[in-house]
Amino acid sequence: MKRKKPWGGRFGAETHGQVEAFTASIHFDLRLAPHDITGSIAHARMLGKCGILSRAEVEAIVTGLGEIREEIARGEFRTDPALEDIHMHIERRLTEKIGQAGGKLHTGRSRNDQVALDLRLYLREAIGQIRDRIRTLQAALVAKAEVHLGTVMPGYTHLQRAQPILLAHHLLAYFEMFQRDRERLADCLARVNVLPLGAGALAGTTLPIDRAYAARLLNFPKIAANSEDAVADRDFAVEFLACGAILAMHISRLAEELVLWATAEFGFIELPDAFATGSSMMPQKKNPDVAELARGKAGRVYGALLALLTVLKGLPLSYNRDLQEDKEPVFEAVDTIQQTLDVLSPMLGAIKFHTERMRSAAADGFLNATDLAEYLVTKGVPFREAHETVGRIVRECLESRQRLEDVPLPRLRHFSRAFEADVLKYIRLEACVERRRSAGGTNSRLVGEAIRRAKRALRLP
Ligand code: ARG
Repeated sequence: MKRKKPWGGRFGAETHGQVEAFTASIHFDLRLAPHDITGSIAHARMLGKCGILSRAEVEAIVTGLGEIREEIARGEFRTDPALEDIHMHIERRLTEKIGQAGGKLHTGRSRNDQVALDLRLYLREAIGQIRDRIRTLQAALVAKAEVHLGTVMPGYTHLQRAQPILLAHHLLAYFEMFQRDRERLADCLARVNVLPLGAGALAGTTLPIDRAYAARLLNFPKIAANSEDAVADRDFAVEFLACGAILAMHISRLAEELVLWATAEFGFIELPDAFATGSSMMPQKKNPDVAELARGKAGRVYGALLALLTVLKGLPLSYNRDLQEDKEPVFEAVDTIQQTLDVLSPMLGAIKFHTERMRSAAADGFLNATDLAEYLVTKGVPFREAHETVGRIVRECLESRQRLEDVPLPRLRHFSRAFEADVLKYIRLEACVERRRSAGGTNSRLVGEAIRRAKRALRLP
């Protein structure tokens, strides 16, 4: 059935079927429906307050929109590509329900300011949901850190064993990354939270509207200052995707460590069966597919950021239909991030750490060599000389397959007269960890304080 277009007045021919299919967005912007309705209700109330619509018209519109909201929630709403997008679908349905008054809803408004509003309302909600999910992941990290305040593991640089650290300290490094992600998203919200409604198609409206009133109804602290910018701006969405890309990168780094740690070569963790998969061919396998996908999903989020930046590049002011291409990347990024966080948090909580294995990895590989050199420094040896001396001791140990703590004192004194009987205690693993008391270091008291700070930041008991 062909329906008359809202712009039908000026047109002599019907829209080509391929054009309808090509330009339609209803198959993805249906998800904006609740926000579109929220925005329209506020718009109608504002028009009523300004005397542009009668009280009865406003009531009819608000009631009708409320019913449509429920029809959509119940999945009873029929869509038709001929009606292009969610905005026209809802307006058409409203007119079917309440007649003439439905046709007045669009007074002083364009789909251009309407769609910008919808996307901002959608993102405002999505940002809140993502921040909550990040918090859940952070809580899982902190819970594991609390349990492993006494677990020593190798810390790495260049993926080579470097210095001993506490597992809790390592986990809290991820806490910090995700804390920045939550802060970044909160900052981004300040730019999302600006009302474009009332910009009309691009230049404002001749009708006596009250944008500040609409902003109050919709809980926007600010209104867009320039009507052209209001309909053309998608910076807030780019910014959201950039925050999402950084978050996805952090998730990917954490996931990579889980993949590595689950290998026989590392053997630091046992993946919970409920969060691992098997092989269709090799009966012995237990694969970290969840962590691998969490690592790989970053590609989609980066792709979304690049897609939107590319859509916007070179667009002249003000609204251009290209902007309809903003929504799918945003939705894809939101879905990807939410799904990934939803599976990562419970998986992390269920991971078992092989603490003995971690400790023995830290005991092997001369991770206390820096401490041995610093021991000499405490005895007055210049650090460069101490470094050279310990380097030679390490070389000898490599040949004799010994650890530094296995070298007898007389042998040590052969390398430097500064070594004394207290050296053995000095280079014990735990002592090496505890001595790192500089702010932000891996000393257990400092890490314990960091856990308490983290819990306060998460408002955990
Ligand atoms: N579906 C459109 C979008 O997503 C709504 C705005 C359409 N405006 C227009 N002038 N054709 O951007």
